[in-house]
Amino acid sequence: MPCVLLFCLGNCFYKLNFVGFKNSSLNIMRVYHRPVMVQEVIKSINFESLEVIVDCTLGSGGHSKAILEYAKSIGKKIKILAIDLDYEGIEIAEKRLNDNLNSIVIKQGNFSNISKIVKESGINKVEAVLFDLGVSSLHLEKAVRGFSFRQDSTLDMRFDKNQINSATNVINEESEEKLKNIIREFGEEPKANAIARSIVRNRPIISTLKLADIIVRAKKSYKHKTKHPATQTFQAIRMYVNNELNNISLGIKEAINLLKKSGKIIIISYHSIEDRLVKKILFEESRDCICPINILECVCDHSPTLKLSFRKVLKPSLEEIRLNRRSRSAKLRVAEKI
Ligand SMILES: C[S@@+](CC[C@H](N)C(=O)[O-])C[C@H]1O[C@@H](n2cnc3c(N)ncnc32)[C@H](O)[C@@H]1O
Repeated sequence: MPCVLLFCLGNCFYKLNFVGFKNSSLNIMRVYHRPVMVQEVIKSINFESLEVIVDCTLGSGGHSKAILEYAKSIGKKIKILAIDLDYEGIEIAEKRLNDNLNSIVIKQGNFSNISKIVKESGINKVEAVLFDLGVSSLHLEKAVRGFSFRQDSTLDMRFDKNQINSATNVINEESEEKLKNIIREFGEEPKANAIARSIVRNRPIISTLKLADIIVRAKKSYKHKTKHPATQTFQAIRMYVNNELNNISLGIKEAINLLKKSGKIIIISYHSIEDRLVKKILFEESRDCICPINILECVCDHSPTLKLSFRKVLKPSLEEIRLNRRSRSAKLRVAEKI
């Protein structure tokens, strides 16, 4: 039986690291989120001049652990300040990083407040900042977190469980017009109209599977081949609940300010809406002029703060995609502070 379970989870793109925390408050069998593009992240960091790196999305600590292990292997002492909104992820990461706790400081918080968190931690400047955006495997796997359209639970989707508004509030309280806009803007869902109408008609909707079923029925004539029909709507609601785009925008801009000269900002995104925003900010910050295209003479007085390490995105290798399906949509962008 354990072998069958291991095999299934392996296919579900998770690293198999069973720890059996019987005394944990999480009370779940724990499977770590498998970090994406680890080699590429490590190559992007200039370890020679690295003293402090901020991991803005600690998750279950995969990237932080790999960075610390690499630094140790080359005899370099570094410090990681790691941030995450999610207490459950932090609890798992603390266990996973148990051997490295003198090299890492972990803070529960929002990366949109990175400057404040860095300052409160007594750090002045940092040489690298990592963002591995979006949702972790732990969120999708643990039904009770209410992120997944494959398992039944109360609709929730909050990264930070102290936050008041959850997916249940959004789905049951927002107007049809607002829901349509959310689903269109954050999910790029062509059937946003029909889905929003159907949600409003079928309220109250408390469970993930009920919402998924309503979406499937609203999209009945829509041909879907590769994705579950609820994928985009669930993504949209999650992004809205967690204010993801605003946080990304604020977090990246603050991170750029914090970086030392020659410091690196490294960002992994997983879908086009995230990546467009990341690309826009990095490209703008690397240009001399950010005036609208129809203005003939520059009036913006903008000076670039970044140099892009490469113009195109890096993508995971076929081998990584084969081993970890979740990595298939990953896009890595790196820029250097000038
Ligand atoms: C893809 S996971 C990171 C996985 C991690 N790199 C690892 O190796 O385990 C993204 C993480 O970002 C966190 N997160 C999302 N938005 C955040 C925000 N605004 N501030 C801090 N953490 C955030 C989520 O809770 C989640 O744990």
